[in-house]
Amino acid sequence: MAASTSPTSQTHPASLPPSVFTLPQTAQLEALYTIIRDKTTSRGDFLFYSDRIIRLLVEESLNHLPVVPKTVETPTGVTYEGVGFEGKICGVSILRAGEAMEAGLREVCRSVRIGKILIQRDEETALPKLFYSKLPEDIASRYVLLLDPMLATGGSAMKAVEILEEQGVPEERIIFINLIAAPEGLRRFCGKFPSLRVITGWIDKGLNEKSYIIPGLGDFGERRYCE
Ligand code: URA
Repeated sequence: MAASTSPTSQTHPASLPPSVFTLPQTAQLEALYTIIRDKTTSRGDFLFYSDRIIRLLVEESLNHLPVVPKTVETPTGVTYEGVGFEGKICGVSILRAGEAMEAGLREVCRSVRIGKILIQRDEETALPKLFYSKLPEDIASRYVLLLDPMLATGGSAMKAVEILEEQGVPEERIIFINLIAAPEGLRRFCGKFPSLRVITGWIDKGLNEKSYIIPGLGDFGERRYCE
């Protein structure tokens, strides 16, 4: 039987779905976000401070995974009744921005398997379309940490979850990890997939007419990969 987990993350305002959890909204965390939101922040600082937030998000998401009772003997010869991880995990990054979160996941979960999904807008239908995916062959038996730093309309995230479900991953085994989310994207995403969990660092005000998150931080990929 799985022992209970006790996430430290906060639940959201009542208007947001119960499957959404934010990092504790401390002044320290807000200072990190202030740096990465600032348009004058250098690429080096953007990398450093966004990586710090990603690390916090990965650690927090692991708090949502189940554990089972596990007994060990310590070097003092005493038995310790603790817990161990219940199942195997893998990461799946939504390219290209999600790739930036892979290193943070690897720092915490050594030799974790990581898959990739590339979704782009289909110019004919204007809908998100799968262009490429490479996923661990045993993904259906793993917990999946789905990585995408910016949740705007939720279109790519929803398509990615459909692809994971087609591979046999149950919705409740998916944890979506995200730096900044727009409330409208969160509602759409969690409305469609109520059993998956979202761990986000910050929920912003909304979207502008170009579907950028407001206040946001601009284009995450540009900030991260371009000088
Ligand atoms: N992707 C980004 O990089 N930024 C946004 O504001 C929304 C989506």
